[in-house]
Amino acid sequence: MKNGKIKLTILVDNSADDNLSAEHGFSLWIETASQRILFDTGQGTALPANACALECDLSQADMLVLSHGHYDHTGGVPHVLNVNPGIPVYCHAGVFLPRYSIRPEGGVKSISMPQQSRAALVGLPSGQIHWVAAPQLIQPDIGISGPIPRPHAFEDTGGPFFLDQDGHRPDLLDDDQALWIHTDRGLVIIVGCCHSGLLNTVEHIRRVSGIDRIRGIVGGLHLHNASVQRVEKTYRAIADWDVEFIVPCHCTGKDVVSSMLDTLDDKVQQGRGGLTLVI
Ligand SMILES: [Fe+2]
Ligand SMILES: [Fe+2]
Repeated sequence: MKNGKIKLTILVDNSADDNLSAEHGFSLWIETASQRILFDTGQGTALPANACALECDLSQADMLVLSHGHYDHTGGVPHVLNVNPGIPVYCHAGVFLPRYSIRPEGGVKSISMPQQSRAALVGLPSGQIHWVAAPQLIQPDIGISGPIPRPHAFEDTGGPFFLDQDGHRPDLLDDDQALWIHTDRGLVIIVGCCHSGLLNTVEHIRRVSGIDRIRGIVGGLHLHNASVQRVEKTYRAIADWDVEFIVPCHCTGKDVVSSMLDTLDDKVQQGRGGLTLVI
């Protein structure tokens, strides 16, 4: 597959082509010569019709990978299991944790995996869910990061995330994981919300894959609350990696995408539902 074509199709994103539904969430369809992988499922409302319109047959997916347990990535799980009951699922055991976003102006909001998604996963036969606790290859050239170490402390999780409604226990999103594809010109890295931070994620994947060259990055970068300093350090790192392309999606933040387009120019393509990339 290092020399074969890979097609990525964004099924769900905060924005979308006119004929598709948009919602706050992310889902990506990955097609290689031999595999179809669904990475995240959005909130669940947009996925069925968008997948159908984009001719991505969820019943034919070979595996489902969940980047983390937030509702906007896991809400479509019941639909996926409905149309594809035997699909293997890869996720970290922490996806089921109750979690909350607590904002002074917005109060407490539950952002956990929806109950229906949890019930659908818990009801699967043993062996269908693969609990990812460490980096692992799911195909010869495709890997999942497992939990991501965070040596770059300036990269926080990107929001006021807590494990309790009183805001006493910060949620470090230990279940956050990314996927990599080893292509003939380096790694393509797929992230959901990138709660571990982009530098932490990329450096971890470089280390565990043994491959240095970063060809491209696709997914939500969760920089909308980030400081100017963090955004600048992130851009410097992307420039140092000399990526061929970066596709910021979902939670990256509108202003950040604009400044990324100004700073990194033709390497940047804003993600949206319906965007396809052939690599
Ligand atoms: Fe998200
Ligand atoms: Fe998230």
